[in-house]
Amino acid sequence: MNQIRVIPLCNSADLLDSGLAVPFDVVYQGMTCRAFAVRFNGKPHAYLNRCSHVAMEMDYQPNRFFDITGQWLICATHGAMYAPDSGECRGGPCRGGLVKISLTEMDGVVHWHTEHNLQPVEF
Ligand code: FES
Repeated sequence: MNQIRVIPLCNSADLLDSGLAVPFDVVYQGMTCRAFAVRFNGKPHAYLNRCSHVAMEMDYQPNRFFDITGQWLICATHGAMYAPDSGECRGGPCRGGLVKISLTEMDGVVHWHTEHNLQPVEF
């Protein structure tokens, strides 16, 4: 069984409130997937970059997930909207929420946490 690991992702300063995301790659349920981290109301959050409507990446421009209000994560394809702090569906054609990835932030660095079905990409 894989152990839980805490992996450095980016510097805290790389994530601005409602700003651009920092992308990273993970292996989720055995498949390599894109993921992203954002900051919202001061706290970092991360999700798989996979819409719950159709399993597609959501950003309409690279690393841009927030709508123009900065209050929602929006899928570019059909407009599903998700709460930035929980990944829950808040509107549009989503079928459930986003897959959340645990983060911690300390000493100016954001780290992500592996889980049994969420692992780093090994090169
Ligand atoms: S693929 Fe995201 S809303 Fe349809």
